[in-house]
Amino acid sequence: FHSSYASSNDFLRCLSASKPKQLLFAQSSPRFPSVLASSVRNPRFLTPWTARPLCIVTPTNASHAQAAVVCGRRHGVRLRVRSGGHDYEGLSYRSVRPGAAFAVVDLARLRSVRVTRGPPATAWVDSGATLGELYHAVGRASGRLAFPAGLCPTVGVGGHLSGGGFGMLLRKHGLAADHVVNAVLVDAKGRLLDRNSMGRDVFWAIRGGGGGGSFGIVLSWKVKLVPVPPTVTVFTVAKSVQEGAVDILAKWQEVAPALPDDLFVRVLVQGRVASFQSLYLGTCDALLPVMRHRFPALGVNRKHCKEMTWIQSVAYVYLGSGATVEDILNRTSAVDAVFSKATSDYVRRGISRDTWAEIFTRWLAKPDAGLMILDPYGGKIADMPESATPFPHRGGVLYNIQYMNFWEGANEEAARAGWVRDLYTFMEPHVSKNPRQAYANYKDLWLGENVVGAGAIRSFEAGRVWGEKYYKGNFRRLAMAKREIDPDDYFSNEQSIPPLAVQL
Ligand code: FDA
Repeated sequence: FHSSYASSNDFLRCLSASKPKQLLFAQSSPRFPSVLASSVRNPRFLTPWTARPLCIVTPTNASHAQAAVVCGRRHGVRLRVRSGGHDYEGLSYRSVRPGAAFAVVDLARLRSVRVTRGPPATAWVDSGATLGELYHAVGRASGRLAFPAGLCPTVGVGGHLSGGGFGMLLRKHGLAADHVVNAVLVDAKGRLLDRNSMGRDVFWAIRGGGGGGSFGIVLSWKVKLVPVPPTVTVFTVAKSVQEGAVDILAKWQEVAPALPDDLFVRVLVQGRVASFQSLYLGTCDALLPVMRHRFPALGVNRKHCKEMTWIQSVAYVYLGSGATVEDILNRTSAVDAVFSKATSDYVRRGISRDTWAEIFTRWLAKPDAGLMILDPYGGKIADMPESATPFPHRGGVLYNIQYMNFWEGANEEAARAGWVRDLYTFMEPHVSKNPRQAYANYKDLWLGENVVGAGAIRSFEAGRVWGEKYYKGNFRRLAMAKREIDPDDYFSNEQSIPPLAVQL
């Protein structure tokens, strides 16, 4: 698939013959740079050296996506699929390998959301919609319905559901992908498949195991919506090291994963401060006794409580107290435009108080330090067996850690990304082992990459290095589902699932 100049031209001709010209942006098009940049969230992957697509296709219906696959197969050009462009390694629009011939199918124009209030309450949502657009449509349909997915409203539905997806409702309702009841997929033959026609294993695989764009192009998803009370309560309590942050954090590790499912308390740890950020599915009056009884050390009182509707909490938690519900419809935000690097861990045994003290003094105090985000598990996310979906981080997990760093110019990358790498190395004895687990939606190429041109067995064995971190034992079943739907590995990239024959 290192296609020649001639086959690239043939590919473009094939595409122009099968779809309206205004939906196709070749590199020579004056609009190519702006269409490419339109959903790039990390300027690290938009440099003059970044390997760019031959062209970008922006389907407005399923047949355009099908034609892209058919033309790509015929002329030796691979496709990368982009929904919201939030991929942490930019793999939806760039290749790490110079010279690779690929095109981008950008689904930003396929973004309708149709809510059925039910019962059962469901929505059909196109992959190119953002989480904000989905939440907004759900909130407009009913103040008593919600969808459990990530915090950032500009994240794309397509990539998010493909890799799992969790946010403030994860303890009550589990993952976004746990709520998918049907989907429309364009496979590597260009066929349009639904739940029944794609088969049991492929439908299992796309709900959390497709974060690398491995199984085809998912155009839309049918999801179950969940009930929420008319009033929810949010609070943020910040504790500095001087105010006892180390002890409170050590305690939080035991308390937060075992709280009632209606209560979610995450932590942002940065500098000398741990900020405890919470969503409670109920009123302040109901919340306070629970906090006093279960976590008195945090000292939550009535002044911390902010009561609102669930849809208001979506805007409030991510965009701040001045944000309105309409703001979650913006497809871009300033936060998205900074350079960043992230990776993740899972904790199964509480980290000692001394280690937390060392994390503050040795790591968070550095001038180039970033932050740690701790999301507690337990509740619904832990109730499902590890093999129910490709996402295996269920029972026994106390919390997820995300290590992140941000910066503003390319010259800061070595120090800022280096901080993430060095802290990740330091954390090894304190986190899950064999495998050291990681979250597929926090994609990290430091965990490993596919080997180009390796045979089936070698690709699978090489892929286990990163694949079992994301998927544990489910990686093998994913590789078998891949073989069923895309045996020639057409949808492939640096961290896509390799095909594995059942008998191997
Ligand atoms: P993008 O379009 O870049 O796609 C990501 C991957 O999925 C790529 O490999 C792509 O090829 C593939 N893909 C995309 N659409 C597809 C489709 N329709 N069919 C098949 N494959 C497809 N996560 C979380 O769980 N909770 C959270 O709160 C957050 N918050 C958050 C904030 C910010 C600022 C960022 C940048 C990221 C997050 N995430 C997150 C992580 C996020 O869930 C993850 O990056 C998603 O994959 C992003 O999906 P997009 O569609 O935006 O990305």
